[in-house]
Amino acid sequence: MGSLMKTIIAIFLLLVLQSEPATPQSLLEDICNHTKNPKFCLTTFQSDPRTSSAKDVLSLAKIGLELAMKDSAKTQRYIHVLSTSKRTEPIFKPALNECVEEYKRVAASFRSAYLEVKDGEYETANYDTLTAADYAGNCEKVLANAKAHIQSVSDGIQVTKYFSSIGDRVTTILWTSQPPASNP
Ligand SMILES: *[C@@H]1O[C@H](CO)[C@@H](O)[C@H](O)[C@H]1NC(C)=O
Repeated sequence: MGSLMKTIIAIFLLLVLQSEPATPQSLLEDICNHTKNPKFCLTTFQSDPRTSSAKDVLSLAKIGLELAMKDSAKTQRYIHVLSTSKRTEPIFKPALNECVEEYKRVAASFRSAYLEVKDGEYETANYDTLTAADYAGNCEKVLANAKAHIQSVSDGIQVTKYFSSIGDRVTTILWTSQPPASNP
C-alpha cells in the first residue's frame, strides 16, 4: 500500500472513530463487522469481563490477542493429547505431531503480536497475526494429506483463523491510524 493511501485511510479512520461516541459497543462493532466471523468476534470479546471497560482499540487489541494466545495454546494441548491417545488411528499420528509443532508456531505468533502491540509496533504485529493463520493452514494441509478428517481439530483451526482475522483487523486499525511520520 502506498503511503498516500495509508494517510488517506488513517485520516478516514480518525474521522470515523472520532465522529462516533467511543462506547465499547460501537467500537466493538466497528472492529468485528470487518472480521471473517463478526458474531464470533462479538461473542469472544463480550465473554471477557475487561471488554466492557475497554475504551479504545488498543485495549481491545490487547484483549483480543491475549484470548488468541490462550485459545491457540489450548488447541495445541488438545492436539497433543489426541496424538498420544490410544484411541487415535496410528496412521494419523505423524500428521497430528506435525500439527502440534505448527500450533507452537501459531501460539508464538500471537504472543509476538501481543508484545508488539504493547510496544506500538503495529505493522509487525499485523504480519504476525496473519502468519498465525498460515501455520494453522499448514496443520490443515498436513491433516488433509494424511486423510485425517477430525472434526474437533478442524473446528479448532477455524477458530484460529477467526482469531487471526480479529488480530488482523485491530492491528490494521492501529497501524493505519498512527501518524504517517512514524510510518517511514
Ligand atoms: C455492524 O453490523 C450490524 C449488523 O449488520 C449493524 O447493525 C451495525 O450497524 C454495524 N455497526 C457498525 C459500527 O458498522
